[in-house]
Amino acid sequence: MPAPCCLPTLPATAAGDAPHHVTVEDTGETFPCTSQETALSALARSGRRGIPLGCRGGGCGVCKVAVIEGDYVKRVMSRGHVSEEDEQAHRVLACCIQPGSDLRLRVLGRMRKAVMQNAGSPSPVNPR
Ligand code: FES
Repeated sequence: MPAPCCLPTLPATAAGDAPHHVTVEDTGETFPCTSQETALSALARSGRRGIPLGCRGGGCGVCKVAVIEGDYVKRVMSRGHVSEEDEQAHRVLACCIQPGSDLRLRVLGRMRKAVMQNAGSPSPVNPR
């Protein structure tokens, strides 16, 4: 198993605490997310079922997504989970990116399976 290569916290972005929204294209769900938190943290905070919460530090690769639209700040990700080609194609780890604008994501790999299995399941917390 590759060692986590990320710092425990991400630096603040220039946008400060601006509210953004992360939309999961596969389900159409949208979650609020500040520029101070990771996309995975926002999804987890929503209470949405099926969000795989692994290491939250870039080490397990369970939270892989493709960013379809939007700007983000990323931290270093393990090459064991995100190749250079992946990174250039905006396939990244949701626990290692912070939004700089609204983001539209497509879930991949294990995250896709978990999210799609629970698509349409009621969330204990209203994400909006
Ligand atoms: S939760 Fe482990 S890499 Fe994102």
